[in-house]
Amino acid sequence: MKIMVIGAGQMGSGIAQVMASFGKKTYLNDVSEEIVGKGLQFIEKILKKNVDKEKITEEQKKQTLENLIPSTSMQDAADCDIVIEAIVENMEIKSKVFAQLDEITKPDCILATNTSSLPITQIAAATKRPEKVIGMHFMNPVPVMKLVELIEGLATSKETYDFVYNLTLEIQKTPVTVRDVPGFISNRVLQMMINEAAYCLYEGVATAEDIDTVMKLGMNHPMGPLQLADFIGIDTVLSIMEVMHTGYADSKYRPCPLLRQYVNAGWLGKKSGRGFYTYE
Ligand code: CAA
Ligand code: NAD
Repeated sequence: MKIMVIGAGQMGSGIAQVMASFGKKTYLNDVSEEIVGKGLQFIEKILKKNVDKEKITEEQKKQTLENLIPSTSMQDAADCDIVIEAIVENMEIKSKVFAQLDEITKPDCILATNTSSLPITQIAAATKRPEKVIGMHFMNPVPVMKLVELIEGLATSKETYDFVYNLTLEIQKTPVTVRDVPGFISNRVLQMMINEAAYCLYEGVATAEDIDTVMKLGMNHPMGPLQLADFIGIDTVLSIMEVMHTGYADSKYRPCPLLRQYVNAGWLGKKSGRGFYTYE
């Protein structure tokens, strides 16, 4: 089986690492060699850490890296059996990529999206093979988190679902099937908590540190919601809130204005060096 992962950001590199570690030849594609190189460097760093901790052998690390093929041309998808898209959370950009993939890939190639919230049915409509389009929603950090939400669009076929279900089990993750609704389950629940935490900060209820401490020490969450927003990317958090606000046409999903202000300032969280917290 040959795979292409499009987008070498935090999600794409994690998905590619996991696929390669299970013996799949995997293209890691992005718009520039520099970005692909950064993704591969990050994967190498994590693998080295795992060797040092004796979780994997040096040979396993070598094999995983050998299974990864850097790519800056979507034409490389021509010989793939499945493409997993993990680019920015934007319908227009994702639809363009899916329309291009529809032209490039073999007719039986499955086109999966790692979207956090966008309608799979609409992404599928950008192609002439909606039966082969499916949501495969991994959690961050991909090598650590066990869950994959599987989301069928209106036209997704049983064959496509079964293929992706079996692939999820093969990479030792747990699939959960969710209907094609904005935010699915994960983000419908999680982002409401993050948005409410942003409102607490916006209204001056407490400091970011104290809001996070309440959730960490009071509710046993591994990270506070504002730290988690920085880790996910505040641009992604805002996009998800906007998709749910529009998709459900319900004011309970309104994004906190502070999220928009941070995105306008370029404070996207860990990836840009500043969000609710600052990073080296
Ligand atoms: N890639 C690979 N491995 C990573 C990693 C990364 N980016 N970050 C951490 N790890 C590994 C570490 O190597 C470590 O491995 P060992 O147990 O073998 O030592 C393990 O994860 C734990 O890491 P740390 O000890 O450094 O730190 P921690 O105990 O604080 O755990 C965490 C880190 C796993 C990220 C934990 O803080 C956590 O679970 N946070 C919440 C994560 C979460 O909620 N994810 C979902 C986000 S929402 C989403 O993904 C959906 C969406 O659409 C937005
Ligand atoms: P990111 O900003 O880290 O990476 C996105 C990457 O996509 C960038 O490297 C960018 O250069 C690349 N890209 C943009 N347009 C492209 C194109 N046309 N062709 C190839 N590459 C392109 O974002 P991320 O956090 O990895 O999120 C990616 C997707 O995964 C989004 O849809 C997001 O909603 C979803 N997601 C994110 C998380 C999270 O915690 N961050 C969790 C689950 C799902």
